[in-house]
Amino acid sequence: MCGIIGYIGKKDALPVLLEGLKQLEYRGYDSAGVCVARDGKIHIAKRSGKISGLVHAIKDRKDLKGSFIGIGHSRWATHGAPTNVNAHPHMDCSGNFAVVHNGIIENFNEIKNVLIKEGHCLKSETDTEVIAHLIEKYYRGDFERAVLKAVKNLKGSFALGIMCGNQINKLIAVRKESPLIVGIGDSENFIASDIPAILKYTKKVVYIEDNEMAVLTREGVRVFDSSGREKKKKTDTIKWSVASAQKSGFPHFMLKEISEQPKVLKQIFSSRIKNNSVITLDGVKISDRELKDISNVIILACGTAYHAGLVGKYLIEKFCNIPVSVDVSSEFRYRSPVINKHTLAIAISQSGETADTLAAVREAKRKGAKVVSICNVVGSSLTRISDGVLYTYAGPEISVASTKAYTAQLAMLYLVSLYMAGRKKLLKKELKRYLLKELKRVPGLLEAILENKNYMRRLAAKHHNFGSFLYLGRNLDFPTALEGALKLKEISYIPAEGYAAGEMKHGPIALIDEYRAVVCVAPVSGIYNKMVSNIEEICARKGKVIIIATEGDAGIKRFTKEVIYVPKLDELFSPLITVLPLQLLAYYIAIARGCDVDQPRNLAKSVTVE
Ligand code: AGP
Repeated sequence: MCGIIGYIGKKDALPVLLEGLKQLEYRGYDSAGVCVARDGKIHIAKRSGKISGLVHAIKDRKDLKGSFIGIGHSRWATHGAPTNVNAHPHMDCSGNFAVVHNGIIENFNEIKNVLIKEGHCLKSETDTEVIAHLIEKYYRGDFERAVLKAVKNLKGSFALGIMCGNQINKLIAVRKESPLIVGIGDSENFIASDIPAILKYTKKVVYIEDNEMAVLTREGVRVFDSSGREKKKKTDTIKWSVASAQKSGFPHFMLKEISEQPKVLKQIFSSRIKNNSVITLDGVKISDRELKDISNVIILACGTAYHAGLVGKYLIEKFCNIPVSVDVSSEFRYRSPVINKHTLAIAISQSGETADTLAAVREAKRKGAKVVSICNVVGSSLTRISDGVLYTYAGPEISVASTKAYTAQLAMLYLVSLYMAGRKKLLKKELKRYLLKELKRVPGLLEAILENKNYMRRLAAKHHNFGSFLYLGRNLDFPTALEGALKLKEISYIPAEGYAAGEMKHGPIALIDEYRAVVCVAPVSGIYNKMVSNIEEICARKGKVIIIATEGDAGIKRFTKEVIYVPKLDELFSPLITVLPLQLLAYYIAIARGCDVDQPRNLAKSVTVE
């Protein structure tokens, strides 16, 4: 939910911190702050609002310049309103320690009460501030030891960056259940919540595991376990380019990422489908025996990833004849799911850091399930607790609204279901060849839809003042309706609801009138006529209908002029293309309403708190 950055090395720290925070702003933008250490003192600047406001506020602060060590933070508020006082970094009474934190300290109130009784003076409403005072309480000259003792008191999740004013030759980072990477440079080293923050300076990273502490100096990085024993860590190399984490000429990351979908899917299919007959799922090793023994599948995910999981359910049940349940991760843990060693859990997450999904996966593993994750961020927490990982390799997705990650997850689910069906001898060779050829047409079809994006812009201009939207779909396009509604609501703030079209008559039809827009996903399919009946019911009640239809379906225009055509494609693959017009519609409506598309209010890209 927040972004942390830290630097120690040969450069002036401040510009590195501010640039890193700009790259991390998608993780939270309620407030921002930095601090550097020089002349044995910590100098700090923090304020509510976006990074740009902080940059402007400190432009004349000479005391922040010329230091070689610093930490920074962009906040998504959990404890305490986004005020200046609650902004990070937080300090102890003496002003000798500064802490930035991503996560939640669940027992901070009891710690705070003890600290106050011991005479500490805490200024903020945050959970984070107690960490600085705990380090002060345990500090007897050994910085590392004081940090290890302090974090032993903490319950919850934390990725910490910590500085000590009178030990400015080292920067400390600690991780437990919140993302944290260490960047390895030449006489300089970095800590960050995510790769884009340091990509400009280095591609060499060390992934810090839970309950590990990293001690960074200009010369190098040492990693210790919670008892202070040093650990050997390997250095990985990031494959992303710097450009992939920039807008590259697009007005918003969201439009860039929408536009990258053809390339992303082409890369997925070309790397995983050979001669239209063989699917390779490196990262998942499963024997015929294990495959045969799978009695049920559970899919765990949140938000957009959950909608992908709903499509996955249709596909795995259809092709593999295995029962599938799909759970919102935050709900999964509180029901009594039927799980055993024959259960395959598929966790879907773009970031691999969603706290609810991590918790659900740990619960599924505890009950004996095998876990395969579909994930976009290499080395993320989810990938490290899974038995197998299928990376989507969609490149960094910066915009809070997930788009290319969604279609990449769908593509992976198509491959997984066809792969499993093939291995279980449930798929005739000819049919498999046909399906894979049809699947490989999708990137080109997405390109064709993107060429028509100005029509979406015009449609958005006519509909951006509607007070609410209803999205309807059936079968494989019911999840598409849910996803279209989520896209609209999260970036335009217009109430929008996705519904199974067949459910209209069980209540929602009461909502229909001329003030409500209804988006109907109605491509040619076996249940097309059912969708047409729903459209007729809506038009009979003066609902304003926008229809996603298949090219060549001229008859559908009898209901409305607002028809968005998608190219002909086997109905099995409809979700891969019908979602694109809905992504564009949401994007252009949000623009028409003057919303902050990439950083919508109250949201953050990666929900790393439960
Ligand atoms: C989607 O547009 C939202 N940003 C949100 O629902 C997101 O899909 C959800 O938080 C899950 O994130 P994850 O895929 O990183 O786990």
